[in-house]
Amino acid sequence: MTVRIAPSILSADFARLEEAVRSVEDGGADLLHVDVMDGRFVPNITIGIPVVQALKRVARVPLDVHLMIVEPDRHIEAFADAGASMLSVHVEVAPHLHRTLETIKGLGVQAGAVLNPSTPASVLEPVASLLDYVLVMSVNPGFSGQSFIPHSTAKVSAVRALLDGAGSRAPVEIDGGIQPANAAQVVAAGAEILVAASAIYGTDDPAAATRALREAATAESAVGLHGSH
Ligand code: DX5
Ligand code: ZN
Repeated sequence: MTVRIAPSILSADFARLEEAVRSVEDGGADLLHVDVMDGRFVPNITIGIPVVQALKRVARVPLDVHLMIVEPDRHIEAFADAGASMLSVHVEVAPHLHRTLETIKGLGVQAGAVLNPSTPASVLEPVASLLDYVLVMSVNPGFSGQSFIPHSTAKVSAVRALLDGAGSRAPVEIDGGIQPANAAQVVAAGAEILVAASAIYGTDDPAAATRALREAATAESAVGLHGSH
């Protein structure tokens, strides 16, 4: 299993975004995670379409855009045009999830569904075949720097089992409180994309922190593989 590292620029210095992007790319980041918050679905307000456009101009890796906004359908096309390669919506604010996912895919963008910590994996069962990835929130969305909610590891396993049961190889992404100390366990549970903001941009050396997170994640999957033989 290949693990992808997706640094979240939410904890970067917004006055020096290009440098922030470059540093994690130098550290081998696979994706750039972009947290869009509207002050309604979540308490915080972060960045919007013009910043995604600007990031697209400088990023060499694909943009993984996480929409934490109400009525996401109103803005999907604009985020796709802005340069999102992956676009995820929260199931809690997507009453017509099937249609929303089809809209995203129709724009040539990978479609993801996001589950809050209190939302069960089972809500994805009817749309499992449409999902390009699933994002499991391991904190309540809104802010970086929160602590990992332990139940999230079991949620990753449940989502992985649901996707496997539907014959889908769509990867599971995990977001919130991820750091080298817990990368191991979430990868063992089936997470293939690891998002981290404070564990990367909260350090003096985001490139080294990106590498450290991958090493922690990869070491664990090697152990898991070994143990299964
Ligand atoms: C939280 C965001 C996360 C956040 C992660 O609402 O979706 O992507 O940036 O921050 P850390 O890694 O610091 O928990
Ligand atoms: Zn996020």
